[in-house]
Amino acid sequence: MPGDKSISHRALMFGAMAIGETIISGLLEGEDVINTARAMAALGVRVERWNDDASWHVNGVGLGGFQSPGQTIDFGNSGTGARLAMGLLATNPISARMSGDASLRSRPMGRIVSPLEGFGTRFDTSDGGRMPLTLHGARQPVPVVYRLPVASAQVKSAVLLAGLNAPGATTVIEPEATRDHTERMLQGFGADITFGQADDGARSITVRGHKELQAQTVEVPGDPSSAAFVLVAAIISEDGEVTVENMLLNETRTGLMVTLREMGADISIANERVSGGEPVGDVTARSSKLGGVTVPAERAPSMIDEYPVLAVAAAFADGTTRMQGLHELRVKESDRLAAVAAGLQANGVVHHTGDDWLEVTGGKVAGGGTVVTHLDHRIAMAFLVMGLASEEPVTVDDGNVMATSFPGFRSFMEGLGARFEDATA
Ligand code: S3P
Repeated sequence: MPGDKSISHRALMFGAMAIGETIISGLLEGEDVINTARAMAALGVRVERWNDDASWHVNGVGLGGFQSPGQTIDFGNSGTGARLAMGLLATNPISARMSGDASLRSRPMGRIVSPLEGFGTRFDTSDGGRMPLTLHGARQPVPVVYRLPVASAQVKSAVLLAGLNAPGATTVIEPEATRDHTERMLQGFGADITFGQADDGARSITVRGHKELQAQTVEVPGDPSSAAFVLVAAIISEDGEVTVENMLLNETRTGLMVTLREMGADISIANERVSGGEPVGDVTARSSKLGGVTVPAERAPSMIDEYPVLAVAAAFADGTTRMQGLHELRVKESDRLAAVAAGLQANGVVHHTGDDWLEVTGGKVAGGGTVVTHLDHRIAMAFLVMGLASEEPVTVDDGNVMATSFPGFRSFMEGLGARFEDATA
């Protein structure tokens, strides 16, 4: 599997801020992460790929050491890249203009701008608080205590990163657990980070600023959000079996596996171990008869990027699968709830949606439809996987978007026996 996208972004950014040379192996070389590497270079960091072993070397500039970029930083399609970088730069005395593609420019940034303003950072945003925007880092930052109003690891991370170069203690209170790679990796880089509980029992994370990070060696494990497509492909195919080696098994990321198993999927895990501070293992999935289930809202943060491919699995299950607590899907690379519903509709799958829920009634899938991907890699890959087991092939309107997170998706799937055709316009 390609390297985990969340960990890849963080490895580059934390390396950029540390003292010394961080060496990263297994970095995801998808467009989102390459844009983060370019962003770090634009901020004065030396970032190099060694072609002999495909490792990435980042020579960090230390806390507060970023330079103002000469031109607008383009984060492409990546909300994670843009939002974490806003936190990274918020307490540096520089200005930076940031933008992205049409998808990223349509996504809400107020959720990041508002807590960062608490540090004294100023923003000139486009209408609706969106990108392009210019960030003016706080020259004399003050630390903040921030309770997350949305379950978002991106917001949590941005605040913690800003806190690294503010004096005193910055605390994030997290009522709903989200992916914890930032906390784990910051510990590994030697940040002063502690964990506690707010009065109501919510988890709190505190960083004390002005402690330099130390360069590390990072091994990026396989991305469970990319593996999701391959595992579901095996499950819905006849006589399918696939093993994904060295897949990240952090439980803030494994909600899809829990759900697929509840649906009756044959998934087994071997060789469980810890690698680079994260649990990993080899995951095997085999063809399975699936049944519909109700997926609780509390599980959403641990499988937030996997709902499109879960909807595809549900389309082949007996009975109805109900997914709830999906409001965040509205503000991903596309409005994923609407994009999934439209894709199901185009391929003859019975479904219902509300503001923040989706119900899919499975069985045989006719297929034959064309799915509009709206610059959303996961919509494209999920519906191409549907085409493996539908009666007629499934078409997506944009064959390039997969490169965002899964370069080589097509040849990878061809290696497993999938057949693709280039549609003519
Ligand atoms: C990510 C967090 C999630 C996820 C995104 C990656 C991260 O977003 O959807 O693909 O690396 O922190 P939110 O934290 O905004 O839900």
